[in-house]
Amino acid sequence: MTDFTLTARRIVLRRMQAADAPVLYAYRSLPEVARYQDWLPHDLDEVQGLARAQADVEPGVPGSWLQLIIARRDDGEVVGDCGILFPAGAHASPELGIALRPDHRSRGYATCATRLMLEHLFDTRKVHRVVARTDPRNLPSVAVLQRLGLRQEAHLRRSHWHRGQWVDDMIFAMLDEEWERERKRLLAHCEGDGA
Ligand SMILES: CC(C)(COP(=O)(O)OP(=O)(O)OC[C@H]1O[C@@H](n2cnc3c(N)ncnc32)[C@H](O)[C@@H]1OP(=O)(O)O)[C@@H](O)C(=O)NCCC(=O)NCCS
Repeated sequence: MTDFTLTARRIVLRRMQAADAPVLYAYRSLPEVARYQDWLPHDLDEVQGLARAQADVEPGVPGSWLQLIIARRDDGEVVGDCGILFPAGAHASPELGIALRPDHRSRGYATCATRLMLEHLFDTRKVHRVVARTDPRNLPSVAVLQRLGLRQEAHLRRSHWHRGQWVDDMIFAMLDEEWERERKRLLAHCEGDGA
């Protein structure tokens, strides 16, 4: 397994390990975490399988999903998880995802974790565009994306099939030139009291 960490003042994004499965399964199964997520783990075995599969994922390989744990740096506490989808097409835009444990919300961890993923994609991987999707009713998710300057590109009406019904889907994106323009302000998001 290739080592992979993205580090800020208060949190670190690191690769998922087998030992993370029980805690991830516990909070990902909570209704308030799962409500707008397409992935709802069926059982602990499924999450353990994800952890095993992640050991072979090389960051950045087209057609792969990189699952990362968001952990506090001071005590290693797992506060959530995030991920980057590297789509199969050579010029396709990576897509971001994130979920926090409910008792670790509202401290800026999600904003900082998203900022770390953007920094990695634009500064290290030199990608051209990053995309994120969310249900428009998911206001905390919309707020994180807007706080980081992602632009709303679309509000698709009843376009997404989610647990037996059609729901709206919002698409947010950022271009490399937009990242460059806002870079200094965005990097400060991990330096405040939050993360
Ligand atoms: C989406 C989700 C990750 C957002 O979490 P969040 O806690 O609102 O986001 P953050 O951790 O960035 O915290 C932001 C809050 O911390 C505050 N904050 C404190 N310090 C901060 C800092 N340094 N930087 C940014 N915000 C900071 C913000 O003002 C904001 O406050 P508010 O909650 O009163 O608006 C969370 O709601 C979640 O896990 N939802 C379930 C899973 C999900 O739906 N994921 C998205 C799928 S598309």
